[in-house]
Amino acid sequence: MGKFNIAIDGPSGVGKSTIANLLAQHYHMTHLDTGAMYRCVAYYFKNNQIDLNDSESVQNALDSIQIAFDQDRVYLNQEDVTNSIRLNEISMAASKISKLEAVRKKLVFLQQEIAKNKGYILDGRDICTVVLPDAEVKIYMDASSKARAQRRYDEYVQKGIDADYETIFQDIVARDYQDMHRKNSPLRIAEDAVVVDTSDLTIEEVLNKIEDIIEDIV
Ligand code: DC
Repeated sequence: MGKFNIAIDGPSGVGKSTIANLLAQHYHMTHLDTGAMYRCVAYYFKNNQIDLNDSESVQNALDSIQIAFDQDRVYLNQEDVTNSIRLNEISMAASKISKLEAVRKKLVFLQQEIAKNKGYILDGRDICTVVLPDAEVKIYMDASSKARAQRRYDEYVQKGIDADYETIFQDIVARDYQDMHRKNSPLRIAEDAVVVDTSDLTIEEVLNKIEDIIEDIV
């Protein structure tokens, strides 16, 4: 088996990052969480009060952003933002700024540069369709919005975080809508991607299923 890339797309909360991390361990590959990059941009724009309608400010801001990954930490201009970019308000803001063409142009370029040496697993919304259309393995992970909301709710409860199922569910529905209906690279299933519905599967079952798919292809 030579070096290859794996592209994974899917909606919020479907478990892409969890699966991508496990696949990376199994195949000794590197996982690049592209959603974290959009979250970094959202965090920077929010902190610096960038007006999304002012294209010059947007471009200047993008030019001053440096994103780095080290093990499982994420750094934005050397600041460790691993936890702060996970806040709910940043999730919504990331979905919002990801509509901007200038933002996508910069991040897609960075992602393609990183993945060109192969051996990478990228997960996001436009990986199979735009970033790595020639990836050897292309997967679309799906799950009903109810299943995804329930998982997130259980995760919060387990961590002892106050959570309201209905709010989580509404957030997921709103983010799906934004991600699927934007003009630039909306979330959609690439024609040649293999769809894996994870609604009724455990993490281990999803992992086994995707490993079977990979082994059939490479
Ligand atoms: O996967 P995530 O929840 O961390 O992503 C946050 C937001 O970033 C998501 O709502 C849409 C956007 N995104 C994107 O547009 N393209 C990607 N490849 C990854 C994320």
